[in-house]
Amino acid sequence: MYTKKVMDAFANPMNAGNIEDANGVGQVGNASCGDIMKIYLKIENDVIADAKFETFGCAAAIASSDTAVGMIIGKSVEFAKNLTNAQVVEELEGLPPQKIHCSVLAEEAISEAIKDYEAKK
Ligand code: FES
Repeated sequence: MYTKKVMDAFANPMNAGNIEDANGVGQVGNASCGDIMKIYLKIENDVIADAKFETFGCAAAIASSDTAVGMIIGKSVEFAKNLTNAQVVEELEGLPPQKIHCSVLAEEAISEAIKDYEAKK
């Protein structure tokens, strides 16, 4: 059902946790499944210097958040803003159709964290 990439990211997430001095935090939830994802960003000079996630959700949501966070670390805010769930799914080498909404949470949580950062600027 899940690709090896999904299973690896779920079993050994590299970017799990929080950032105490994060300057952008975004939290989103999915009402139908009840899963919650929180993304912490440490942005310096418009670059994502560090990012972490806390996800209370399914394997696909954990793998999506870990992978999405890994994709934006070291990249510009603009890059992170434009990251789509389709890119995350591609990086995971696919998700079952009924699990695509889990990857949407990652896109939305990153977008909320950037909004939070921009509002505080
Ligand atoms: Fe809802 Fe995966 S089942 S985020």
